[in-house]
This record gives sequence, structure tokens and C-alpha cells, in this order.
Amino acid sequence: ARLVVLVSGSGSNLQALLDATADPGYGARVVAVGADRDGIAGLDRAAVAGVPAFVERLTDHPTREDWDKALTARVAEHEPDLVISAGFLKLVGPHFLAAFGDRYLNTHNTLLPAFPGIHGPRDALAYGVKVTGATLFFVDAGMDTGPIVAQVAVPVLDDDDEETLTERIKSAERRQLVEQVGRLVREGWTITGRKVTVP
Ligand code: GRF
Repeated sequence: ARLVVLVSGSGSNLQALLDATADPGYGARVVAVGADRDGIAGLDRAAVAGVPAFVERLTDHPTREDWDKALTARVAEHEPDLVISAGFLKLVGPHFLAAFGDRYLNTHNTLLPAFPGIHGPRDALAYGVKVTGATLFFVDAGMDTGPIVAQVAVPVLDDDDEETLTERIKSAERRQLVEQVGRLVREGWTITGRKVTVP
């Protein structure tokens, strides 16, 4: 299966996928990496792995709709079976969802529907929850609202700060991402309403 991975930052989830897909038995390979900005470690990781990368900046387009169309076209060039947002910090628009809506995954660093948005672990810590985690889901038109594929729970420890909690979540999140993407590409999936079924 062909994976396109979208990133905005350090790309440690991307790296976990690059490492997993080095094994032919995994059933998928990363055919391209896309970003919404330059100068991020995620793009360096793609270069080291020899995977083609592209950057589509929102600020290079007159409207968000133009950017959405351009991003859709860039991703479509690589004919992905699955597109994975791995720390991609932009909400895609209707063109992207029309093209990839049933095969666009995102990983989020809390147990949704609690604490959506870009400061999930900080918000979880501030609320005082004792358990949080990571959620893998198919993206819909909302923010962090789509049908859930899998979740993994991670404890919040008494002496956690944002950084220690974020790192604990990220190690569980990377394992979940690799396991579940492998399962999806090998076995297929259907989405019925909010329910994701893997045969
Ligand atoms: C992940 O924890 C993701 O849930 C959040 O940003 C992080 C991305 O990390 N939205 P990385 O770029 O894969 O290291």
C-alpha cells in the first residue's frame, strides 16, 4: 500500500512509519512526505530516508480554498491508499476531504473526544485527568471529531509537566500508529457512520 504522510514538525511519528515500512512484510511504504512549512525536522527525515517531499504553504495562496486544492493535487500525484496526518497542524478543506476523506488518518495526543486541538497534553494536565492517551481516527470536517480507529491509554503521573506527559504519550502514540496502519493496509477497512470496521 502507498502511504503519504503529512507533517509540520519533528516528525517522530513519520520516523516510526519509515522504520516500520523498511520491512517488506509490513505491507506499506511511504511514497511521499508533505509539509505546510519549510525547515522542519520531518522534511530532513524524509530526505535521509530517500522519500520525495513537497511543501505547500498556506501563505503562498490567495485563499485557504486555493491552498486546499493545491494540497489535494500534490497528494493525489502520489496516488496514496492512505494519507496520514502525523503532527500536521493544518485543518484540510472540502477538496481534500472529497478526495481522501475515507482514507485520511490523524493521530491526536489525547483520548478524544477530550482535549481536542493543538495543546492536548497541556489541557489534560491542567484539567487534572489521571489517564489520557492517544487516538487514531479518520478525519472528518470537524477538528479532531472523526470516526475512531484505536486508542491507547497513558497514565498521568503526579510529578508530570507538559513535556514529560507529552513524551510518554508520544511513545505510546507511535507504537499505536505503526500497529494500526499495518493492520488497516493489510486487512482493509470500512467506515459506517462513526464506526470503523476492520474485517
Ligand atoms: C503528535 O503527538 C501528535 O499527536 C501531535 O503532534 C505530535 C507530532 O509529533 N499533534 P511528531 O512531529 O510526529 O514528532
